[in-house]
Parts: sequence; C-alpha cells; structure tokens
Amino acid sequence: MCGIVGIIGKDNATDILVQGLEKLEYRGYDSAGIFVTGKEQEEYLVKSLGRIADLQNKISPEVQGTVGIGHTRWATHGKPSERNAHPHTSSNRQFILVHNGVIENFEEIKQEFLQTKSLEGETDTEIAVHLIEHFAETGLSTKEAFKKALTVINGSYAFALIDKNDPDTIYVAKNKSPLLIGLGEDFNVICSDAMAMLTETNHFVEIADGEMVIVKADKIVIEDQKGNLVYRESYEAQLDLSDIEKGTYPYYMLKEIDDQPAVMRRIVQEYTNTLGETIIDEKIIETITASDRIYIVACGTSYNAGWVGKALLEKMTNIPVEVHLSSEFGYNMPLLSEKPFFIFLSQSGETADSRQVLVQVNEQGFSSLTLTNVVGSTLSREADYTLLLHAGPEIAVASTKAYTAQIAVLAVLAKAVGDNKRNQFSLDFDIAHELSVIAAVIETIIDEKMLISQLVEEYLTTTRNAFYIGRGVDYYVSMEASLKLKEISYIQAEGFAAGELKHGTIALVEEGTPVFGIITDKKTAAHTRGNLKEVESRGAHNFVIALASLSKETDQFIIPDVHPLLTPLVSVVPTQLIAYFATLQRGYDVDKPRNLAKSVTVE
Ligand code: AGP
Ligand code: GLU
Repeated sequence: MCGIVGIIGKDNATDILVQGLEKLEYRGYDSAGIFVTGKEQEEYLVKSLGRIADLQNKISPEVQGTVGIGHTRWATHGKPSERNAHPHTSSNRQFILVHNGVIENFEEIKQEFLQTKSLEGETDTEIAVHLIEHFAETGLSTKEAFKKALTVINGSYAFALIDKNDPDTIYVAKNKSPLLIGLGEDFNVICSDAMAMLTETNHFVEIADGEMVIVKADKIVIEDQKGNLVYRESYEAQLDLSDIEKGTYPYYMLKEIDDQPAVMRRIVQEYTNTLGETIIDEKIIETITASDRIYIVACGTSYNAGWVGKALLEKMTNIPVEVHLSSEFGYNMPLLSEKPFFIFLSQSGETADSRQVLVQVNEQGFSSLTLTNVVGSTLSREADYTLLLHAGPEIAVASTKAYTAQIAVLAVLAKAVGDNKRNQFSLDFDIAHELSVIAAVIETIIDEKMLISQLVEEYLTTTRNAFYIGRGVDYYVSMEASLKLKEISYIQAEGFAAGELKHGTIALVEEGTPVFGIITDKKTAAHTRGNLKEVESRGAHNFVIALASLSKETDQFIIPDVHPLLTPLVSVVPTQLIAYFATLQRGYDVDKPRNLAKSVTVE
C-alpha cells in the first residue's frame, strides 16, 4: 500500500525518485508526487492523479536537483485527487512532507494546535506538516519541531520531511509503516521497500518504530525516542534486479503463476536434505510440539492458505488448529488454550491487521512464527521465529505463488513436527518427493493455458457473477479461487462449501450462472457432483475441475493425481489462470486492480 522514496546527494534526484516510484507501483496507489530541490535552492513540487506515467508527463526537463522525496498515495483520508496527493507543504512552504499510514488523532490535533491554519485538502497528512510548522514557529529547530510533532501524533506513519531552508537533510521517522534507509557512497536513499532502490544500492538499514533518522548525503544518524544515538549495522538485500522485472511476460501475474514449479523445487531444496529429511530449526519444532493448539492468523489469500495449513497440520501433528482473520482476531480474541502457538502467514510481512495481533501475542508472551516472503519484514522481525517462503518477489497484487509457497512450507513444517511426534502418517509421507511431483504437475497445468483461455471466453465473458464450490480442501481452494477472480476481474464471485449452497445461496443461481466445482477428494467427490447437478437443474453453467482419478469425460479441466493432502497446490493453478484470462478478456489491468494495494499497511 502506497510508497515513499527519497534521495540525497545525487545529481539526478528526479530520475531516481520516478524510477523508485515505478518500482513501488505494484503496492497499489491512486496518485503520486515528488518534491525536488538542491544547492541552488530551486524547488519543484509536481503531483498527479493516476499513474506514475501521468506524473512523468507533468515533469518538465528543468525539474532537477540533488535532494528529493516522492510518494505514491493510497487514499485513506480524502478522495484521490491532485490536491490530496503528497508531498504536502506547510503554510509558509518551508516544510515538505510525505507520509504513509494513518494519523488517528488528526481531528484532535487540528482542534488543539491548528485553529488558525488554513488547510488545502482533506488528508490527515496535511495536519502533520502544519503541526511541524506550528512547533517550528515556537522557536524550535526543524529537528526538535519534528520530534515534538511525533510525540503528539498517534497512529501509523512513515514520514520523510524536507526543510527547504536546509536542503542538506531529510528527516525520517516511522511507526508501524515500513521504511528503510539505503546507503550509498556520498549519497543515501530512503524507500518503503528495498526493491525501489536496488538500482542505487543493495545495502540497507532498518528503522525501528519510534526512531527518528537524520539522513544526509554522507551519513545517517539514528536517534531513539529519548534522543539516544542508535548504531545499527546495515544488511545486504538478497534481491536481484532480474527478480523484479517481468521479462517477456505481459503481466507479472502470469510470470508468477509460471514461477510456481520453480518455487516448489526451491522449497524442497531449502527445507529438505538429500535424504529427504526436513530441515527446520529444532526450536520451532519443539515449541510447536509442546503446544496444545495452533492459531493461524492471516488476511486474504494468506488466510485462505491457512485453511489448507490447518488440514495439513492436524493430519500430521494431531494438534488442533484454528484459523482466524487478523482483522477480527485482534479485537475479538477467542478464549485461548493453555499453550497456544501462533503462526502468522503474510506474503509481505507488513500487513497491519496481522501485525496488531502479533503485538498483542508478544505482550502476552506467547510463542509465534511468521511465514513470509520478505526477509527482514516487520512480522518477521517481531515474531519469535521466521520461515521464508523463498518464492521470489511477488509483484502482482493478486497473490499466486505466495499462496502455493505458504502451503508447501506449511506442509514441510507439519511433516517436521509430525515426525518429531512419531505420527505414522507423517513418517510415511515423503515430502521432498511429493513436492517434486507437484512441481511437475503444475507444469502440465500451465501448459494448458490456451485451453483455459478458451474456456474462460465461453464461461465468463459476459457474466456478472460466478461461484466456486467444493468440500473440505476443495472448499478452501474455492475461497481462494473466488477471491482471485473477484479482485482482478471484478466479477462478483463467491467460494462456497458445496453442501451449504442449498441452505440459501442457491437462490442466486439462475440461467447461465457459471458454477465452478472443484473435485479432488475421493471422500466427497460424489456429494459435490450431486451439488453440481442441483445447480445445473436450476440453469447453472457448470465447469468442473477434477483430479484425473475422480474425473468424468464431461469435465472441463482434468488435473493429474498428486498426494491427497497436497491437492490444493495443483487445483488452485487453473483457478489462477481463469482469473487471469477473465481479467485480460475484460480489458482490465491484471497486475493493478482498482482500489487494491499489494501490501496493506493500514488497519
Ligand atoms: C491477494 O491476492 C490479496 N491481494 C490479499 O488478499 C493479500 O493476500 C492480503 O492482503 C494479505 O497480504 P499478506 O499475505 O502480505 O499479509
Ligand atoms: N493517510 C494519508 C492520506 O490519505 C496517507 C495514505 C498513504 O499511506 O498513502 O493521504
């Protein structure tokens, strides 16, 4: 969600900012802007509604400088507009600020400190820049005024501030929202994630919540809330520029779907040895083994993966598992067991809803593990343990390879704990082999792209809504399949437990309604087929995705058999492609659906 970039100490600040913002586009935004200045005190503020390309069109050649900040906004307070786009300036135009996050007490701040100020837009951010100006007017230096403002502001923020009277400094602070400092030779950068500045550096320094950083071209100074200096080592980002480029693919989503066989193989490589044994930190295994209940907490696609994780963990470890939505769990925590263990699933590792639960879990002293794709992300830093997904950067807003990677890593984890508990099912389960089979099967499904594209034309071109149905893990995949379809193609889609349809939702089925049935479980196949017959009798246009051993000649898409516990890893793939082609055929931007952000950093 939204992004910040900044640069100090290079001649081509404008280009670096714009390129950085382009790299952050995937996070989702509705407007963008940059502020650039330099030694000669020239200054340029350019803002635009829409895409970075629109911003670029407004940047004239004279917009040059050595210092600058840039922003992509995902509106929380005030509609997307040029006026509400960042950077925001104070009344006297001395202070220029970009902000990610939400200032919760902006109304109170306005009442208490800013009665005399006239504000231009409706954002909470504008309050912050005026508050800094207000404190500077009381005689405080810029640094002190900024620090004082931070003591008044409640909420989530990543801030980058420029005082145009002192263009040798960018002031930076964060609380809950992500922000990094990138180190260069005689220049430094700031960015919401490392990808944005990889062309400039691959050495980054993390900022902790509550810290303030003074960024100059030749040094950075980190101070904690009490004003103590903080020394922190930089780390090298293990990212390659080629990882974040789409190459010959028209869209990242397609590239990421195609990446999945390689991701499965990488997970085998990272988490198993040549004997096929799992390699997972003993402490994680022992802590889970000693727990009496596992709580999986996540949002969106990660939440959907959590349900498959529950099936895997319960089968192999005999430990009961509950799956919860982060945004609900934090405010309505159920009665917990005596020895709970928390697993946070988060591709980005930055999801604010999940993070607020982790904060509470830490306060209560419970053990936790984050499964994430992003090294050093907030959820990874703040949980006791981390298991990486090794999926490579996922850029498309619609998550695909992170979903399958989460399930595969959960399967390895379940196997490791199950073996530790001498669970017979687990001991007999050759995870390395099974995941390698999965990789090969995903390849065969991907080879059928054109068939899926044709079927989508037949089923989804004009429809307003659609259903995915299944039972057990097929239901869990239906939830994910429908989320994928609705978030990018805007077809109203619902994933439903096949047996539950007749208890109400079947009323929505009418002549031509597409109903996708997923059938990969021997135990429930006949019942799901029965439910498909019921909707067909009411006019539904059925599309069956079935495992070969359970398939019928009339089925639309058949998947080679895989281990019964791992079927979601393959049955989800045609549904990802269905969502992709439905979106393409409707002429929408596959990678950047409306209203959505990749990394949802507000609650
Ligand atoms: C996935 O397609 C979505 N865009 C979204 O539901 C996402 O899975 C969710 O916001 C959670 O993100 P996370 O995995 O980074 O925590
Ligand atoms: N709350 C701020 C706004 O609405 C910042 C949003 C963002 O993080 O992009 O402008």
